[in-house]
Formats: sequence, structure tokens, C-alpha cells
Amino acid sequence: MTRIAFITGASGGIGQALAWRYHQAGWRLALVARRTVEIESWAQSQGLKAADYAVFGADVADPDSIIGAGQSCIASMGLPEAVIASAGISIGMDTSVREDIDVMARTFAVNNVGMAATFQPFVQGMVQRGSGRLVGIASVAGIRGLPGHGAYCASKAGVISYCESLRGELRGTGVKVVTIGPGYVATPLTQKNRYSMPFLMPADKFADAAFRAIDSGVSYRVIPWQMGVVAKLLRVLPDSLYDRLLAGRPRKHRQGER
Ligand SMILES: NC(=O)c1ccc[n+]([C@@H]2O[C@H](COP(=O)([O-])OP(=O)(O)OC[C@H]3O[C@@H](n4cnc5c(N)ncnc54)[C@H](OP(=O)(O)O)[C@@H]3O)[C@@H](O)[C@H]2O)c1
Repeated sequence: MTRIAFITGASGGIGQALAWRYHQAGWRLALVARRTVEIESWAQSQGLKAADYAVFGADVADPDSIIGAGQSCIASMGLPEAVIASAGISIGMDTSVREDIDVMARTFAVNNVGMAATFQPFVQGMVQRGSGRLVGIASVAGIRGLPGHGAYCASKAGVISYCESLRGELRGTGVKVVTIGPGYVATPLTQKNRYSMPFLMPADKFADAAFRAIDSGVSYRVIPWQMGVVAKLLRVLPDSLYDRLLAGRPRKHRQGER
């Protein structure tokens, strides 16, 4: 039977590249985002047939919306084998600015609560079936803090811890929780960054490596591997050295900044 991948963030960037990789591997796609028109026009431009995919419009920051999309997917297509929570936002913040507290709340709503709500409708069915992959797209930015990037870094640290917790809960059920930590991937999200992005990789190459990691059921994988080495070093670097390393680094741009 054809396997199904439920992918949020499918209207662009990493989610879209993953959708293409899963399609190439013969999976049916359940594609989720707010901009469903973007998904439709992409699917048509790539020559996908109606039987290959379905589109679910949802806002992951609204639990009822994304849970509803998951339930609709199960009802109309069946229980997916892979659920990939790729929807995410990355906006700089300045704690001294009142509006940026709302930016932080929004970031957590999309990147953290949105991820748990994405997985929620599938957990019970996957456990009963004894198989499945719940995939959280984290970030190397979740390993150490970065100036001006407190909301995003904290949210991605949260993704890493959340996925680890869920992995412990589902151990022995046959359902694997896979945390993917992208380094820098060329997508609309990174386009405006004002700092250097070492080992920046094209989205299709990232998607291929992620597809293989997810398929293997690995618990945690940083992509590209060079960034994985950096991530391991970052974990053990003393604060004093880390702070010196960051001195003078431009801050992540805030909302509305260029
Ligand atoms: N690119 C990188 O270098 C990089 C590095 C580390 C981690 N990541 C992570 O990888 C994931 C994908 O990033 P990307 O680079 O592909 O970003 P992107 O190109 O900006 O795409 C973000 C996707 O998330 C969706 N999204 C955002 N807010 C949403 C909401 N409230 N409800 C539903 N969908 C929402 C967007 O769809 P709509 O706007 O149509 O809803 C879009 O499809 C994110 O979690 C990001 O943090 C990326």
C-alpha cells in the first residue's frame, strides 16, 4: 500500500523540498500550510497528479486548525506513516521592545505548540498500528543562544527537548520520534540573514539527507554533517569562549527590519 507523508510548512522551503523527495520515493502527500494556493501551483508545476497528493489549509498556531487538518487527513487518506512538522518562523527580537514579547509568544505558538498539535491526532493510531515516524524540524540554533535570536533559539531548544520527551514516551511502541537539526538551508527563511551562513546547503540536498535519516528512524540528526560536528563542539564550549566567539556578530533582524 502506498505510504502517506503528512508535511506542514509545505508551501515553501524545507517542507516543499521534503514533499518532492517523498513524492519521488512514491509516497502520497498530505500537504499543509496556510497558503494553499502556493501548494497547488507548486504541485501542478511539478506535474503531480490528483491521486498523488491532498492539500490541507491550516494555521499551526491555532491548535484546533492543525488538529482538524490531521483528522481530515486520517479520514480522507488514512493514517500516515510519516508526520513531519516543518512549519516554523524565525524572527529576531529585542527584549527591551514591548512588541517583541508578542513576537516571542507567536514564535512559541508556531514552533512549539504548533508541533505538538501537529503530532496530536496521529499518536494514538500510530501506537495502535505499531509503526510511524513523528519528525520534528529543530535547528542548530537550538543548541546555543544567538544575539537578537532569543525567541527562535529558545523555541528550537524547546523542540529538541520536546521531541526527546516524546521519544521516551513512545519507546517500544514502534513509533519513532526523529529530531532533524538543519544547519543553514537556502530557503526564504534564511534569505534575509545578515551574517555568514557556514555550510549553507540547497533545500533539495537537505531534503534528500533528511529523507534518509527519517527512514532510518535515527533519533537525532544534524544536517549537513559538517554542522553536526560544529553542533557537538558548541555543546561543550565553555560560556566564556562562546561569548567571545559571538562578539560583534550582527543580530538577527527584527520584524520589519531589513
Ligand atoms: N532554512 C534554514 O536554514 C533552517 C535552519 C534551521 C531550521 N529550520 C527550520 O526548518 C523549518 C522550515 O523552514 P524553512 O526554511 O523551510 O522556512 P520557510 O521557507 O520560511 O517556510 C516556512 C513554512 O512554514 C509555514 N508556516 C509558517 N507559519 C505557519 C503557520 N502559522 N501555520 C502553518 N504553516 C506555517 C509556511 O507556510 P504558510 O506561510 O503558507 O503558512 C511555510 O511553508 C522551520 O521550522 C525552520 O525553523 C530552517
